[in-house]
Amino acid sequence: MRPSTLFFSSVLVVFAFFGSSNCIHAQEFPNKPITMVMPYAAGGPGDAITRLFAGSMQKILGQQINVDNTSGASGSIGTAKVARSKPDGYTLLMIHVSHATNLAMYKSLSYHPVDDFEPIGLATNGPMVIVARNDFPPKDINDFVSYIKSHQSSISLANAGVGSASHLCGLLMMNVLGVKLNEIPYKGTGPALIDLMGGQVDLLCDQTSGTVLSIKAGKIKAYASANKSRLPSLPNTPSITEAGIKGLDINISFGLYAPKGTPKIVLEKLTLALQQSVTDPDIKKRLDALGISAVSLEQATPAYLRSHLKNEIETLNALLIKADIQPN
Ligand code: MLT
Repeated sequence: MRPSTLFFSSVLVVFAFFGSSNCIHAQEFPNKPITMVMPYAAGGPGDAITRLFAGSMQKILGQQINVDNTSGASGSIGTAKVARSKPDGYTLLMIHVSHATNLAMYKSLSYHPVDDFEPIGLATNGPMVIVARNDFPPKDINDFVSYIKSHQSSISLANAGVGSASHLCGLLMMNVLGVKLNEIPYKGTGPALIDLMGGQVDLLCDQTSGTVLSIKAGKIKAYASANKSRLPSLPNTPSITEAGIKGLDINISFGLYAPKGTPKIVLEKLTLALQQSVTDPDIKKRLDALGISAVSLEQATPAYLRSHLKNEIETLNALLIKADIQPN
């Protein structure tokens, strides 16, 4: 056999070996612990949802799922970490609206939310609520509106960074009330909630999955839910629409992603595990206690999440640009 033929045939053997070994690894997936990145700090709404699904999916997949809170830059640092991780299914991303908004908010984003990720499926939907430190003066939502308008320059409003859910809700609230408050960014609304309870910051518009338990425990107070109708989880809190204020109706969904190039057979196993979680009665009950809901089986699919993300990129970035929010 001529040397060149020998060389090419050995190259083919090598490719065949590595190709088939990747295929074998994909077939065996998962055979070691998985990391699920939550790109916001521990203790917030995203963290609560991520830990709930990590706990459920690890039982289904038979491998431990470790939650990694790599936070900062409104979720873009943790997201970038997943984008550059090995596409083998062992590093996943649980994220919400900031996967869309970071595209408009960061000029030098090191990843593209659509091109660098494989959607696995949507997981939850949930409302938001306007909360304050317990000794914030207004006694109810009507008092709140007049107080905010006359004290706006001295009021602080926490959020989890530009483009985060809490930032968007705060932005919409300031728009509909016609005020400009002092925005204080955190690495997640978990740390913001601690400062709210301690009185270091005045207001926060956050997801119920991060606030409903603190409201019910009397650690913070809720003025109104940021949507059209009163929430079953907060029956004594009016909706902002009930209070006569239109234009604030926000719902936050979380979805699960893997890095681009993750094998199809691995993605299918992850989607199946997610679908078993969203239909699990115990998970539904635990999400309900946080004031949020699991998505339907049809929504816990790659196609649905892909279209959901593209819709958020179009609609929310237009909102941010209209609000003249400058990219970082
Ligand atoms: C946000 O967008 O406000 C985040 O979800 C907050 C968090 O999860 O910490």
